[in-house]
Amino acid sequence: MTTDTDETQPRHFLDVDDLSEAELFAVLDRADEYKRAVENGEDHADLSGQTLGMLFQKASTRTRVSFETGMTQLGGHAIFLGEDDIQLGRGEPLKDTSRALSRYVDAVMARVFKHENVEVLAEYSSVPIVNGLTDDAHPCQTLADLQTIREHEDGLEDVSAAWIGDGNNVAQSFALGCALTGVDLTIATPAGYEVDDAVLERARDLGGDPTTTTDPIEAATDADVIYTDVWISMGQEDERDVRMNDFEGFQVSADLLEHAPEASVMHCLPAHRGEEITDDVVEGDQSIVFDQAENRLHAQKALLSWLLE
Ligand code: CP
Ligand code: NVA
Repeated sequence: MTTDTDETQPRHFLDVDDLSEAELFAVLDRADEYKRAVENGEDHADLSGQTLGMLFQKASTRTRVSFETGMTQLGGHAIFLGEDDIQLGRGEPLKDTSRALSRYVDAVMARVFKHENVEVLAEYSSVPIVNGLTDDAHPCQTLADLQTIREHEDGLEDVSAAWIGDGNNVAQSFALGCALTGVDLTIATPAGYEVDDAVLERARDLGGDPTTTTDPIEAATDADVIYTDVWISMGQEDERDVRMNDFEGFQVSADLLEHAPEASVMHCLPAHRGEEITDDVVEGDQSIVFDQAENRLHAQKALLSWLLE
């Protein structure tokens, strides 16, 4: 644990491009090592005695359980901090919450609505802040996604990925991850639901060249990977009727997979079967969604041990 007066600033992970290409590959390699350690029952208590605070303003299954389990496997401990269980929910400023948490724990993972809120946490924290999802980004998901693609495609070179659906938080971090690792990405969204121009610009600055289209078939055709996410993200429930209409034609279904018979199908989960993806595709031979979910555990352990070493 550090204090406010330490001169060394902690590394934060607010989005994928907080890592360089070399750092990202180092984290992915470590994720593979941790996965093997778990499979082989090898001890890997690399964060013995360390504590992760987990701040949640939104619901979670995978993020919460994988971070908490990961800390246990690394010999450390995690504390769940639901917004309404702590003084933040009663109006304590985020900057005070961040400074107080920094005096107790060794890192904080935060799932919040506004992306600016993880930036505030980072500004006032003397320990690493890890973005566990904001309205704009989901970088921990991308780490697991890249680990999963690397496993199924035997590397990331010459891999073509198609994002089909909403240009949301998951899509935006995935675009940055693809750019950093050389994955060729085509993003198909309805008009009005594109990935932010600023994110596309960042992806280009990283050496990527994402293609954008409003045609899901064009994006999917002969892709190695097809990736989708919900049409209605957390906090957008009031937009359901409009969105259900606007996303018509963007469902990842058996019909779409006829254009990509070899593709692996990805979804960050939770999936809304019958909306962005059909039940038969989630359950089908091309689906790798539960490998993706598992890899959240390994990738986040790698990130935490890398940030805290
Ligand atoms: N994919 C993901 O972040 O899932 P949870 O919302 O369950 O954490
Ligand atoms: N885009 C989704 C991802 C959930 C993991 C959401 O923000 O709700």
